[in-house]
Amino acid sequence: MFSRTVLGALRPQAAKLPQAPLARRHISVYGYTQAKALIYSKYGEPKDVLRLHKHSISAPHATQVNLRMLAAPMNPADVNQIQGVYPSKPPFQSALGNAEPAAVGGNEGAFEVLSTGAGVKNLSKGDWVIMKQTGQGTWRTHAQLDESQLIKIENKDGLTPLQVGTISVNPVTAYRMMRDFCEWDWMRAGEEWMIQNGANSGVGRAAIQFGREWGIKTLNIVRQRKTPEETEALKKELKDLGATVVITEEEMMTGNFRDMVHEYTRQGREPIRLALNCVGGKNATALAKTLAPDSHMVTYGAMSKQPVALPSGLLIFKNLSFDGFWVSKWGDKNPALKENTIKDVLQLTRAGKFHDIPVDNVEWNWNTEGPALSESVQGTLGGYRSGKGVFTFTGGDE
Ligand SMILES: NC(=O)c1ccc[n+]([C@@H]2O[C@H](COP(=O)([O-])OP(=O)(O)OC[C@H]3O[C@@H](n4cnc5c(N)ncnc54)[C@H](OP(=O)(O)O)[C@@H]3O)[C@@H](O)[C@H]2O)c1
Repeated sequence: MFSRTVLGALRPQAAKLPQAPLARRHISVYGYTQAKALIYSKYGEPKDVLRLHKHSISAPHATQVNLRMLAAPMNPADVNQIQGVYPSKPPFQSALGNAEPAAVGGNEGAFEVLSTGAGVKNLSKGDWVIMKQTGQGTWRTHAQLDESQLIKIENKDGLTPLQVGTISVNPVTAYRMMRDFCEWDWMRAGEEWMIQNGANSGVGRAAIQFGREWGIKTLNIVRQRKTPEETEALKKELKDLGATVVITEEEMMTGNFRDMVHEYTRQGREPIRLALNCVGGKNATALAKTLAPDSHMVTYGAMSKQPVALPSGLLIFKNLSFDGFWVSKWGDKNPALKENTIKDVLQLTRAGKFHDIPVDNVEWNWNTEGPALSESVQGTLGGYRSGKGVFTFTGGDE
């Protein structure tokens, strides 16, 4: 008997089908769903190595679930993964009928259930799901996964695909770093601080909003914009989200920074107890110097590509702790807590207390060409973007 993959590869008539118009249902007479995935067979720059691969997906059996992508973001780590410089590397496989073994790009996204195998217990057509783990490949129009690999969004009312598709990496990272690395004195709500760089990132914006909800003041460092007006507009945007103070890297690097911090923290009476660092270099050193004794700095990114250098005195005399956090590894070890964290953030979202990140929507329909998609991925690390790139699939199978 032929496997699904081999059958798919042996069906030349599928490849000859005329391109279906937008929003047509891509189901062949054999019950196969036509699908496309953005895949790579070797490491390199996304524009050079990503290609759009057309394949077919069989009807689901047993505990399999057929899915359609709703929204999938392009995060910095996704690009690093394609470049081959990220520690987790999805294995190259030929499961999609591709001649050269490849991986599908993307690590998070929202998907809609199209159909389920007879053994599927908790999912049905129309449900929204996200993938339990990273590394499964989310830049694809359709996917077939086992029910055990999916988290069901129990109540999708009041939620958008964008909110669900961007929940599992950045908000979870911010949430866990703020909860797990600092024992906040909840009796002093509103009197303790967190400092962070990269404050305009997806993680940074999430951290600002959790701070506002949990009574933690936030001192936020952003990169200066091209004009003072743009910088002010960014500061205002983050303050509207709940940031207590927003300053630029340049302001932080002036000799006045120490005095500024002294003033914000009521002459040090309100301690800065946690620093979140996704930049590194001198920026991270400046962050560390603001911390109160016995505090933590958590490094979770390295956007400047500069190492974190620390004065020894911070370790010896202030007893600071320096930790790292990686949500992929954490999620694999704590699946139940990850689901609960996601539920908590979705609840805040439904209540209007957790706002969308600015996005650069990249519409993906059945006729979208591969290079257009790869170029969008390439732009992810370009810097000073108006929003996070997010693929939204608007083609068939509605
Ligand atoms: N360890 C983990 O588990 C984990 C989880 C999620 C994310 N991350 C990491 O967290 C970081 C942010 O991710 P994200 O998805 O939230 O980012 P994002 O929304 O795509 O935004 C990227 C951010 O990086 C900033 N940036 C880019 N180059 C920079 C540089 N040279 N110096 C300072 N800032 C720079 C940008 O600043 P502007 O706003 O000024 O453009 C922007 O705010 C990335 O390093 C990512 O890999 C780690």
